[in-house]
Amino acid sequence: MPLVTTKEMLEDAYKNNYAIGAFGAHNLEIIKAVIAGAEKVGAPVILQTTSSTYKYVEMPYMIALAKTAAEQAKVPVALHLDHGESYKVVMECLRAGYTSVMIDGSSLPYEENIILVKKIVEAASALNVPVEAELGTISGVEDSLSVNEGTTFFTDPKEAEHFVKVTGIQSFAPAFGTAHGKYKQKPKLQFDLLQKIYRSTNVPLVMHGASGVPEEDVRKSLNYGIAKVNFSTELKDLFAEQLRAFFNDNPTENDPRKYFLPARESLIELVEQKVVMLQK
Ligand code: 13P
Ligand code: ZN
Repeated sequence: MPLVTTKEMLEDAYKNNYAIGAFGAHNLEIIKAVIAGAEKVGAPVILQTTSSTYKYVEMPYMIALAKTAAEQAKVPVALHLDHGESYKVVMECLRAGYTSVMIDGSSLPYEENIILVKKIVEAASALNVPVEAELGTISGVEDSLSVNEGTTFFTDPKEAEHFVKVTGIQSFAPAFGTAHGKYKQKPKLQFDLLQKIYRSTNVPLVMHGASGVPEEDVRKSLNYGIAKVNFSTELKDLFAEQLRAFFNDNPTENDPRKYFLPARESLIELVEQKVVMLQK
């Protein structure tokens, strides 16, 4: 099937209290593993990239890989821009064929964030592409984006209500205690806050920084509107760990058709596990 947008899959998940896994797709091996993991569960899946990923892979390859993955897959697949940092980056992705975009204006003053998001929604909706946006700041490091813990702001439910209404976004990423990258200590998710945001908005909510969030917390959040859950760090960690272990055991191996295999196999298992965790 061709790439699909995230609209229907997120709306169905939102209505039925489950979530769609969105996985950082950095190369061919990871893309194939994400699809295979989702197929094992029979669940739709989101491949997502930041702008630095599509610059690294190069856009024509990125699109060709994702389109081919979707066409081969037995489950619906969407290609989503994660943390789009500017109007220009989002336009580049819309032109290239991404089927979902996030604009991250969360570091801007509130009114400027709104102006930017509205502009993006207007352009994306002309192509039927849904838009995700963020309010508050999710701390930690995601590619070139770095927010330290001291400057984390949780999302205000009243602002969230206004923001979602005036921008017309299709999904919303609140800051409620998760962080990108590795957690130094067990994350403390603010479920009361999430519940208030859930009540004051009416679009699917997105959990960023899900790597390292305990399963029970992820599952609890599904009751409060979380319908898309983003994983990246855990995949990167496992992929690198497997490669290191392989070369440790086989220091002279030079065949990429061999040394990528165990990494890909273990990623399939990890993705399957995550997708199972997000089911009802
Ligand atoms: P982690 O890298 O912490 O899993 O976060 C992923 C994410 O939120 C991507 O936007
Ligand atoms: Zn994120």
